[in-house]
Amino acid sequence: MQMLNLTGANGVSEIYIETDLLSHAGQMIADVFSPSRVHIVTDSTVAPLYLAQLEQQFTLPVTSTIIPAGEEHKRLSTVEGIYHDLLAAGMTRKDLIIALGGGVVGDITGFAAATFLRGVSLCQIPTTLLAQVDSSVGGKTGVDLAEGKNLVGAFYQPRLVLIDPEVLKTLPDATFADGMAEVVKYGYIANPEILDMVSQPEYQEQIDDIIYECVKIKRDVVAIDEHDTGLRMILNFGHTIGHAAEKLGNYTELTHGQAVAIGMVAAMRLSAMRGNADLTAPLITLLQKIGLPTELTYDREAIFGALLSDKKKFGSTVNFILVREPGRAEITPIEAETLHEYILKL
Ligand code: NAD
Ligand code: GLY
Repeated sequence: MQMLNLTGANGVSEIYIETDLLSHAGQMIADVFSPSRVHIVTDSTVAPLYLAQLEQQFTLPVTSTIIPAGEEHKRLSTVEGIYHDLLAAGMTRKDLIIALGGGVVGDITGFAAATFLRGVSLCQIPTTLLAQVDSSVGGKTGVDLAEGKNLVGAFYQPRLVLIDPEVLKTLPDATFADGMAEVVKYGYIANPEILDMVSQPEYQEQIDDIIYECVKIKRDVVAIDEHDTGLRMILNFGHTIGHAAEKLGNYTELTHGQAVAIGMVAAMRLSAMRGNADLTAPLITLLQKIGLPTELTYDREAIFGALLSDKKKFGSTVNFILVREPGRAEITPIEAETLHEYILKL
């Protein structure tokens, strides 16, 4: 078992990574919390796979909410449904909410836990690779609005994060590849050894170690900048153009991981246009091996328009994360006019 602590403004999050951890998650939860009851939130795909296994490990009352799977349900009405279930179950501020699922379940449940009765203890049990290496750690929670993604939310750290790589075996290949886009991101922004690991033919056999290295980076970044006012922005490598592409595809043509993969390649090209070493070719080779797309197919003017409306724009500049060499990223503000020229050349 591997363990990491994340010390935030409101205490410590304990993060455990272990194959088959789900089979004894109940005991690990009992070692940390003393609730009178537990409420598990999961989705319609994960529930038939893992909910019963988790529920049967508790001797105290357990209730659950099963939300429909999919990003389109990451909205306020779903959170309201969870509040009603929490009240019907008699949950108090001393009880425990568990998120069992991918990033959608994690973000929604985290937001429900942050706001129900002004805050109830939270345990994250992420079941996608993306959720294990990224969304379950760091305390960003929230929902989408019709106007855009993640526009309502709260920073709310889980007290406990339980990561079981074994559950990734039931993931569709494309969903696994989505998480791998974030893994590659960590390699380029902070630790090139991750790129070496992922370049091995049988890299999936080392997935526990890969997850550990990624979570360690996320832990270190969040410990310095929990509320995303500086360093944490490096986690957005590939996400600036990625978000623009996701938006132009109406959030249906590209998954988040596919958009990040395309966005990383575009950001690498942009980095080279600014005089940095051109690292595009090895990145494309790696992403193609994983099964991710690499080329931006949307109209460049439309991409530029979407970039300017992105929430990471500050005044007349857009913050880009550029990689100078594998493992070394920089937050680089680029003037809108200059950015326009670059985007037309992509
Ligand atoms: P997801 O939660 O929609 O999961 C993808 C699909 O996999 C779903 O259909 C789900 O039911 C299914 N699934 C989950 N676990 C499974 C398993 N073990 N076996 C089989 N199927 C399984 O998507 P995701 O990629 O995990 O997360 C994307 C969400 O995460 C987005 O909403 C994004 O905004 C959010 N996110 C949040 C943060 C953060 O810091 N909070 C960071 C990155 C992404
Ligand atoms: N996924 C980006 C962040 O947590 O800041």
